[in-house]
Amino acid sequence: MEKIRILGNPSLRLKGKVRISGSKNAVLPAIAAALLTEERLQLQNIPRVKDVFTILTLMEELGARSKLKNNSISIRAKRITSDEASYELVRSMRASILVLGPLLARYGKAVVALPGGCAIGSRPIDLHISGMQKLGASIALEHGYIRAEAPRLRGADVEFEKKTVGGTENLLMAATLAQGETVLRNCALEPEVVNLCELLVKMGARIDGIGEEVIRIRGVKELGGATHEIIPDRIEAGTFLVAGALAQGDITLENVDPRHLVTVIERLLFSGARVDGLDDRTLRVVGSAEIKPQDITTSPYPGFPTDMQAQFMVLMTQASGVSIITETIFDRRFSHVNELLRLGASIEVHGDKAIVKGKTPLSGAEVIATDLRASASLILAGLIARGETVINDVEHLDRGYERIEEKLKLLGASIERIKY
Ligand code: UD1
Repeated sequence: MEKIRILGNPSLRLKGKVRISGSKNAVLPAIAAALLTEERLQLQNIPRVKDVFTILTLMEELGARSKLKNNSISIRAKRITSDEASYELVRSMRASILVLGPLLARYGKAVVALPGGCAIGSRPIDLHISGMQKLGASIALEHGYIRAEAPRLRGADVEFEKKTVGGTENLLMAATLAQGETVLRNCALEPEVVNLCELLVKMGARIDGIGEEVIRIRGVKELGGATHEIIPDRIEAGTFLVAGALAQGDITLENVDPRHLVTVIERLLFSGARVDGLDDRTLRVVGSAEIKPQDITTSPYPGFPTDMQAQFMVLMTQASGVSIITETIFDRRFSHVNELLRLGASIEVHGDKAIVKGKTPLSGAEVIATDLRASASLILAGLIARGETVINDVEHLDRGYERIEEKLKLLGASIERIKY
């Protein structure tokens, strides 16, 4: 077991350069897409995070062979030897559901455990299931598993009742090999969806409307291999931007795509930080001594990301005044609040709103990370809390952040990983 120990300092100044890793949320569907072809995919800018290793294990179980070297993966599913994604793997990573569409499309069958993943409220997969049914799959839910079958999927008109990133990705992949045309409506607009579409097109898929709410896919008989670069992780970048704003830092972020961070940057500027684009892959954040409060509401892209909500909440504890943070994407995504209270924050939760009263000095304590982004927020809080903060259950953190403690250390933080 491992913990993160931080020796915090209210007058910490983070300074230096940090290289942002490839996007966890973009690489997972890209790896799943390897199931759509018997040829090889070469994926670059891979983050070495636990979720990547989990999906690679799952892919191995399904028959794919992969090699991860530095930050590239070569992966090939020449033959699919199993159609089952076991509970053991799926419960540790909800995104395992992304193999459903590709398996059905290429293999005609899929058995996928109902997912677990982050403990952030109820996260149904009804939209994935009803979409696959529209494409002609017959689906049964038995003993905690989805059993899906379709000799060949057929194109259809699918309108998502609400925007879903994973649902859009799953249906996109399924539709590439379906017979005829599929129209997907109310698609998620996230850059990770666009990055997947670009990969599928390189593999030979015929897709119109990339990056739009209505996407048309004309099914093809087979797809081929491709080489593809994963976009930078906009949530990791956002987390370091908040770190800079919080710790009156001066941080240069390399390997970022500023176009994916427009809303987050807007909110940081509003808080008083300075954010400059040095070029189209580099951003610099300079924190201010005075942090302004603000109200923030999470919403699907291009709105403010739910995956940045916990980190911004920490920033708002240091703002001079009251901020209201409204979470509209997931229910119960305030598990970090109780831990932040233990560090001395003043936050009240009323339904989907958190009312944050700043500025409160934070003092270090032992805390528990309950989900991926909650863990990141506790690290940020620990950096500026007086004294020692110990974060337990770091496995959530390792699912999505690559060596975050080493990166922060290089910027001047006193942070280490301890084994016990
Ligand atoms: C993805 C991201 C996650 C991010 C989330 C929202 C990955 C691997 N994870 O998760 O980091 O927090 O988008 O930006 O990319 N919903 C349904 N029925 C469904 C599917 C979703 O009701 O079948 C609901 C969810 O409960 C949630 C909302 O739709 O309220 C959005 O979820 P979705 O976009 O699907 O999230 P994920 O793809 O799981």
